[in-house]
Amino acid sequence: MDNAMLCLWPDQEPRFGTNIQHYVDFKKAFSLQTFAEAARIVSDKLHGFLEDDGIQGVSLEPPLALLSAARELMAEPEGAGFNAERFSDILDLYLRTTVKVHSRGYMARQFSSVVPVSAVFDMITAMAPQPASYYEAGQLANVVDRVMADEFGRLIGWKDGSFAMVSTSGASLATMTAVLAARNSLLDGSWEDGVSAEGRGRGRPAVAVGEDAHFSALRVAGILGIGQKQIVRLPLNARRQIDPEGARAALDAAAARGLDVFCVIGTAGSTSVGAIDPLVALAELAHARDAWFHVDAAHNGAFLVSDRLRARVEGLALADSFCLDAHKTLFVPGLCTLLFYRDASVADIAFPHKASYVFDPEDDEMSRFQSGTKNFECTKRPSILNLWLVWALFGRRMFEQKLDYLVDLTCAAHDLIADQPDFDVMHQPESNILCFVHKPPWVPADRLGHLQLELRDRIRAEGRYFLSKVELDGSTVLRMVLMNQRITQADIAELLKAIRRHADDIRDGRPVVRGSHAVKAPPMEDALRTGTLDEAW
Ligand SMILES: Cc1ncc(COP(=O)(O)O)c(C=O)c1O
Repeated sequence: MDNAMLCLWPDQEPRFGTNIQHYVDFKKAFSLQTFAEAARIVSDKLHGFLEDDGIQGVSLEPPLALLSAARELMAEPEGAGFNAERFSDILDLYLRTTVKVHSRGYMARQFSSVVPVSAVFDMITAMAPQPASYYEAGQLANVVDRVMADEFGRLIGWKDGSFAMVSTSGASLATMTAVLAARNSLLDGSWEDGVSAEGRGRGRPAVAVGEDAHFSALRVAGILGIGQKQIVRLPLNARRQIDPEGARAALDAAAARGLDVFCVIGTAGSTSVGAIDPLVALAELAHARDAWFHVDAAHNGAFLVSDRLRARVEGLALADSFCLDAHKTLFVPGLCTLLFYRDASVADIAFPHKASYVFDPEDDEMSRFQSGTKNFECTKRPSILNLWLVWALFGRRMFEQKLDYLVDLTCAAHDLIADQPDFDVMHQPESNILCFVHKPPWVPADRLGHLQLELRDRIRAEGRYFLSKVELDGSTVLRMVLMNQRITQADIAELLKAIRRHADDIRDGRPVVRGSHAVKAPPMEDALRTGTLDEAW
């Protein structure tokens, strides 16, 4: 059958003997020469990208212009084969529009500049795939789940063999999986019959989350048949952590309304300010009511790797389940999420269904290692391997040092900003997230939030720095997330100067600077300049 293909034509018998030489295009697409040339171009481009020490945030292009640029790159190629020039243009377009996560100007989001070898390794796992849900397809990936589980188990303080970990794609999916496990184990028959209003005979099934919980935790209630009306919101204290006393009162009030909270979800590292809920107190509160305690530790579960920061998340050891995102604070490519169960025996409970084409009737040594019974995905990227690779090459201390540095830097940023008379910090940082406002004297107090939004827009449009914003108690504030070890205190000082410059531009009605091009000022700034600010804002 060398050089031959089996073809099925409608209404015809299979024909043998079609010569593969005919298929010039796909042969070239799959050729080793194409691979070698593409890999060289990628390596050169990325080298230049990473080497660039300029201060950059993101270059925002108008979507319609980008759409036509992307379409133009799809013009019929001239002649078959790999077009290095077009490939190069595609890479350039990608790199131009990507967030410059490795730059000192990037301070906006929780995704990270990755350890470069972990990105290189992505090429291996894409080219020689180990789809990681089933042992026969992803041998090393499934075994490495166990290796990483053991590393973290020691850091958490859990006994060998007593707990389980499964890697999955994102904290949103991990939290859904954990609450599904809670639902299946506490609400009898819910997997087979659906969630009944009687639940476990104590009231209508409900889940409780903090006021600052990530939106994925709220979606879970909709996805799992609990319903948005059965979400009990737990109040926060002044540090924006769930307040245990307030939580107790909220749970009592919910019970009095006929709700049975079977799962309490805490957060270690809230998206808005990086607050870590009082996990020990919440675990006690949940368990005293026979509820499952899950912690969304997407952002700060990684504190486990640091001898200095671990105590901040010590309550994770008491959680029934928790997840952490290695693609956030362990600096590997996404998505790489670790979902832990304190009790190994409940790890298979979220997905009891077993399909015959991937599962054998009897468990054996191999199937006991495979993650398919514990995670939602069928084909799953083996991204746990990136984490393992970096851990194997550089050790836990590398992660620890980078995290310690980022948290120290955020504290230094806090102190610097708190010292400025024209800035306010919103909280003492517990993590590498800091919220603050710029309050130049000319801005009326009730317009401060609008100014922050306008500042975020202008700063992002200029493309030098990239900050985010968030609403706290109804007011918009600026938010910095320090994910990049290249950022120094001097960069924070420069950022403050840039913020003041943008505020002056707003005050004086100067146009928005977009990249290197100035564009017309929107009416809001005109209004500010001419004193008709109130109507415009
Ligand atoms: C606290 C928290 N939970 C969940 C998520 C969602 O994580 P993922 O994007 O991995 O699904 C985020 C992400 O931004 C987060 O900050």
